[in-house]
Amino acid sequence: MKIEGQHRRAIEEISGKRAVRIIDQTVLPHQLTWLTLKTLAEAAHAITVMQVRGAPLIGATAAYGYAFAMKEDPSDAGLESAYQTLFATRPTAVNLRWALDRVRAVLQGLEPHLRADAAWHEAGQIGEEDVKTNAAIGGHGQRVFREVFADKQGGGVLNVLTHCNAGWIACVDWGTAIAPIYQAHDGGMKVHVWVSETRPRGQGASLTAWELKQHGIPHTLIVDNEAGHLVQRGMVDLCIVGADRVAANGDVANKIGTYLKALVCKTHHVPFYVALPTSTIDWTIRNGIKDIPIEQRSAREVTHVTGLNAKGRREEVLICPEGTEARNDGFDVTPGRLVTELITEYGTFSTNATDMRRLRLAAGL
Ligand code: MRU
Repeated sequence: MKIEGQHRRAIEEISGKRAVRIIDQTVLPHQLTWLTLKTLAEAAHAITVMQVRGAPLIGATAAYGYAFAMKEDPSDAGLESAYQTLFATRPTAVNLRWALDRVRAVLQGLEPHLRADAAWHEAGQIGEEDVKTNAAIGGHGQRVFREVFADKQGGGVLNVLTHCNAGWIACVDWGTAIAPIYQAHDGGMKVHVWVSETRPRGQGASLTAWELKQHGIPHTLIVDNEAGHLVQRGMVDLCIVGADRVAANGDVANKIGTYLKALVCKTHHVPFYVALPTSTIDWTIRNGIKDIPIEQRSAREVTHVTGLNAKGRREEVLICPEGTEARNDGFDVTPGRLVTELITEYGTFSTNATDMRRLRLAAGL
């Protein structure tokens, strides 16, 4: 997608080198810094500290991390320890495990001296497929948008609510929940996006708002607590979010705050969509609310905020009494019954058992 008018990807191979370039997402939107990753340790660190984040991008970065590890130690022991190092970086987004399993399955049948090349190739494939998958999600989502727009009394602008960041910077390109917005806008539809700031890490404020601005899409930043008010007043036509892990029963783990949005949409009959690649579905988990692991993050993310000060420097400030206890669950789980449809690369599916079976078949699993 576009940065200052130039087409870029969130993770790019550096030609002629076994290395990739990523954007350091911890300093956006105030600074655009590209970092080079070329070792297992650098890739694992980038995921852990959220220089890269978002389920599909975590998966792609982990795959490249695995490829770097195979340059360093392609033995059977190296294969296993690299898997464990990368697997331990973040717990909720299942694309991490999906990508690692996929690369490991290729490598296990190979002699160690062949593993570095094979892993690099597989990581590249994962990246390329991510782009195609998200473009397809965008196409299906755009059709959904057109249907909602056609039903809207008085036409005008389609008002879309989103939470967190599920745009191209959470993926390799296009994004999941934001892909339909890009495609609808590029196709001439008048779309306006309500961007929920997404405390505590501010992915909406710092990443989604930045992406939408780069693409020239009208948007308005809101505090997370405003969404209910807007939905109640008829100012939201649909809500669309991404996902970090979807269970076999259609329950959706996504950034903390998603569940409240789904509840208010249900109450006011506003459609609530979840856009995801099928690599985000964990078919081993039957009940998402009970069994999807939820990342517990540092209390400091709640007690402090970071932004630009009057001198234009990044600064972190305390927003509560010194020593206040804080709890920071990174994700929540929205029951499948609150989801109008899942929008995937294979089309749209409801979360009832029949449709989830259809979706599994479509994904060839
Ligand atoms: O903690 P993060 O920033 O890695 O969270 C992931 C997300 O960006 C969202 O939950 C997103 O909606 C799903 S990933 C496309």
